[in-house]
This record gives sequence, structure tokens and C-alpha cells, in this order.
Amino acid sequence: MCGIVGVLGTHEVAPILVEALRRLEYRGYDSAGIATVHDGHLERRRAVGKLVNLSDLLVHEPLRGKSGIGHTRWATHGAPTADNAHPHKAGPVAVVHNGIIENYKDLRAELEAAGLSPETETDTETVALLAQHYMARGTPAVEAAMATIDRLEGAFALAFLFDGEEDLMVAARKGSPLAIGHGDGEMYVGSDAIALAPMTDRVTYLEEGDRAVLTRDTVEIRDEAGRRVNREMRRIRMDAARVDKGGYKHFMAKEIAEQPSVMSAALSAYLTDTGIALPDPGIDFARVERLVMVACGTAYYACFTAKYWFEKLAGLPVEVDIASEFRYREPPVLPGTSALFVSQSGETADTLAALRYCRDKADAIYSVINVPESSIARESDLALPIHAGAEIGVASTKAFTCQLTVLLLLALKAAEARGRLDPEARDEILTALRAMPGTFNTALGRDEVIEAAAQQLAEARDILFLGRGLMYPLALEGALKLKEISYIHAEAYASGELKHGPIALVDSNVPVIVMAPKDSLFEKTVSNMQEVMARGGRVCLVTDAAGAAAAGDEVWKTVVLPDVPEVLTPLLYALPAQLLAYHTAVAKGTDVDQPRNLAKSVTVE
Ligand code: AGP
Repeated sequence: MCGIVGVLGTHEVAPILVEALRRLEYRGYDSAGIATVHDGHLERRRAVGKLVNLSDLLVHEPLRGKSGIGHTRWATHGAPTADNAHPHKAGPVAVVHNGIIENYKDLRAELEAAGLSPETETDTETVALLAQHYMARGTPAVEAAMATIDRLEGAFALAFLFDGEEDLMVAARKGSPLAIGHGDGEMYVGSDAIALAPMTDRVTYLEEGDRAVLTRDTVEIRDEAGRRVNREMRRIRMDAARVDKGGYKHFMAKEIAEQPSVMSAALSAYLTDTGIALPDPGIDFARVERLVMVACGTAYYACFTAKYWFEKLAGLPVEVDIASEFRYREPPVLPGTSALFVSQSGETADTLAALRYCRDKADAIYSVINVPESSIARESDLALPIHAGAEIGVASTKAFTCQLTVLLLLALKAAEARGRLDPEARDEILTALRAMPGTFNTALGRDEVIEAAAQQLAEARDILFLGRGLMYPLALEGALKLKEISYIHAEAYASGELKHGPIALVDSNVPVIVMAPKDSLFEKTVSNMQEVMARGGRVCLVTDAAGAAAAGDEVWKTVVLPDVPEVLTPLLYALPAQLLAYHTAVAKGTDVDQPRNLAKSVTVE
């Protein structure tokens, strides 16, 4: 996902822009650039690859000026080249953009007919050309930007800078988040609070359709109809915007290790001496006849796991769907249905679109999110924070286990409300849940065994994950973790599906990771393991002590985890899945925190 930043400052702005872009690196990118206004002139510097390339360029070709915009680009239209990198410039206008302009081809044709000549393959250049077109006909800068924004269809967060205007910036948001930062005699824009944190903790989040006209001392915000509006200025907790590795080699390693503490934070936010407390207005599960849960990627696997909990603990029917499918299938949403959306970033385009599809159909819209100011949170009737703190590694780890924590608490709430869970059973689960952070620490102590197995997994071309019941969504998540950071092809199957085709893949070259505590389904999984080993397959069994003893010594590798009640196993078994992926990726030398082709939050379709 792209990142944008803008500064109307009182100091040389180039290094400030680069530092802000560095804090947006976690979003994933393949090129970067800045533009400044100095002595009335707009100038740009852009570079392909990592930010260090842009910094090098600025050493050799410095940019002066105290006003500027910057961008990290995750290519959507046009290859990752310097020419396609932002800021894009046309005549007296420079612009940076996060999102997709869906009608850019029509606009481009219109502009070419008017004699303008695009120089790149990008949709963003069309924005600069359109503003130039209006200004060439005498329209002043702000009105030209507003007229341009009115013509755009699709998703965008934009920041405009103009020749000769050292104290003026225009910003706009539609479908992609954008925040205004308030300084002392300075003003900023940024894709999120993390980018703005070095400059200010006073932040105003633009709402959907908002435009803003900034000077160093003023911000004028207008809604899509052009009406002046006021938006709340908030103080951002600086720890929420901290982005440093804290001594770990990778953000992912730090975030895996943070899980005991952030799970404690999540539990503390919802557990009271007497039970589970949701933020107002709460959820009356007695009136929820069915639940639709929609998400993408890891968040979807959290929903899939929660389906087992809601149905088994609360007897509540749950339909789980991938957002990109749900939003276009136009499924009927029956009366009595509530919709729940899970998203770490709270900005995933498909999940947000699915929420908007349900807006006027479901009885209520709930979300489980990690960014309380995000679009999905703001468009929910009730947003439930997971308190995981900023998650920088592209591969989601602590957010996943905190999502599971909150979803399990919701399932327990539902079970209570539907009279399916007596206080004793509930308290037994809550007691074990309160102990989970400590159990996590014990499991993290198995890191060496997992790292050793990962060294051999790194040599594999294909890897299978198997799981039954609650372990099936965990197997799916383990396969996603591994493939997205090690680039090894990994697939997950319900163990019971093995004989229906996938076992044809098994030979001595295909390691099979079996996620199987000694639970009510363990014996069936042992049979699957024996089928795999009988065909030369190498089984890496992730289990507990009883499972290890029962599995016998033919198993290739065994990772033994602490015992926990079956209902809590998804939380715990996420750890070895994360660590296996992490160590395998490190062994392969891939970019663990910013794996190729991926972005931290997919705010475009
Ligand atoms: C998870 O490791 C991936 N990075 C990805 O699947 C992610 O979970 C997905 O894009 C959803 O993101 P969200 O939780 O921010 O909506």
C-alpha cells in the first residue's frame, strides 16, 4: 500500500519528508520520491527501490525548500520505475496519491484531446494533468485542485503542491485514509499517525470525501459538497506510533515476542472481576439470530476460527466469507443477521466494501480492529479494539492472536446470552485465558526446536499443513504465514481431506506440518500422519506432551507445546506457525518485514 506525507514547515523539509517516509516503509513499497517548493519552484527527486536510494540521490542532488510532499509507491498502474514514482508533476502542480483512480483512462483521453501529453503509465499523473489543465485556463490553484478532485472516481488520498505557493497545500481523502498533523507554525499531512509522529501528536483524521486547504497556520476542511466542516483534533498516544525494532532483527520477531504482553492488554480491556465487558452500546447476542463474518487473509482465518467457537459454545450460526468474494456475490442478508468485520488495519478495501454492502441490510455492523480511528472502525455500530499496538511487519502475528482473543470473548458473551454456558464453565475458560500470556511465554521458549526444523523446511519446494476442527483454520494461517514471507509454496488442508486428493502430493520431498494437540480428534489425525509417513512423507507434528507420546517416534520433527484446554488451542498454536514461517524466511534470506509484492494494508482492490 502506498504512503503519502506532506509538510508545510519552517525548516529544510527534505530530511523530514524522508524520515516520515521511512516510518511508512512497513506498508510495503517499490519506489519513493519527494517534491519541494523552493524560491517559488517545484522540484522533484524520485528513486526506485528502498528509501536509501532516494537518500543517496538527495545527497548528490539536494533539494531545498521548507514545503514538500513525499510518497512511497506500491505499484498498481505502471511498473516500479523512477518515471512512474510519485510525486507526479504537470506544469505548476505536483501530487502524491494513495489509491486507484478508476476513471483515469477517460480523463486521460479528455486531456490528450485538449492537447496535454501524459508521460507515464500511471493513473496519478492524470490527477496532476487535470489540475494543470484547469490552472492553464486561469483557475486558481485551490479551485483547480477542488475541480480536479470532483472529477475523480475510485479511491484516493491526495496531497497537492503548487509552483510559487510555499505556504499552500491541498489534501483530499476518499477511500484511503489521510490525517492532518498540527504543528507549531507548521502543518502536515500523512497516511497515518505513524508518519506524523516525529512531527506532532495532534492529529485530525479526514472523513470520507473530505478535502483540506492547508497553510502553516490554518486548516480549512470541506466535505464532498464543499461545505466547511470541523473534524476533531485528537492526541495520538505516542507509543501507538512507535516504530522501532526494539533490538530485534525484524519487526516480525519483535511482534511475535510482544504477544504475551499485548494479549494481556486485550484481556485487560475486556475482562472485569465479574466477566466480560464490551464497550457501549455492547452487543445483545440474545437478539442475534445469525452472524456473518467477513475479512481478508489472516483476519479471515481469525473469523474462520471464531466460527467454530460461536457455533460450538453459543450455538450461533455463523457464515464466514472472504471479503473480495462476499462484496460481489451480493449474498442475501436475512433479518436477524448481524455482520462482523475483522481487520488489523481497518482500511482493507475489500473488507470496507463488504461492510458498506451490509450497511443497510444487517441489523448491526460490528468490527474487530487494531486501529480505532480507521475507516472500518468509524463505519461500524460498535468497533472492538484488539489493543495489539502498531503492527509493522507485513505478516500479521500479534494482531492475529489478539483478534482471536477478542473473538473468543465475543463467543463466550454470545454463549452466556443464549443460555448455553453456565458460569462455572465460563469461569474455567476465562481462568485458562487469563493464564495464556504466561503459556505463550512457555511456548516461545520452544523457539530453538522450531528454528532447527525451519532450517530444513527452507530447502523444501512445497509444504503441506494439516489440521482438524479448530486446527484447520490454524493450518490455513500457518500456510499463509510461511508462503508470504519465505516464498515457499505452502498449502493447508483439513486432515480429513487428505485422501480426497492432496495425498497425491506426498512424497519424501514434501514436509507435512500437522497441527494437532491431543484433543478429541487426535486419533483421526494420527491415522492421517501414518498415511503420510507410509508414503515417505516427513511429518513435523505440532502437539502437546500427550500427543507427542501417542504419535510414536516415526515422526520426523515434533514441537511440543504446553497443555491448554481444547477451546484455547488456536491461540497457542498460532505461535509455532508464526515462528516456523519466520525462521524459514530468515534461513532463506527473504525480506521478512516487507516481503516482495506485499503491502501491509491492501487499500486498493
Ligand atoms: C497477513 O499476514 C497478511 N499480511 C494479510 O493476509 C492480511 O491479514 C490481510 O491483508 C488483511 O489485512 P487487515 O487485517 O488489515 O484487513
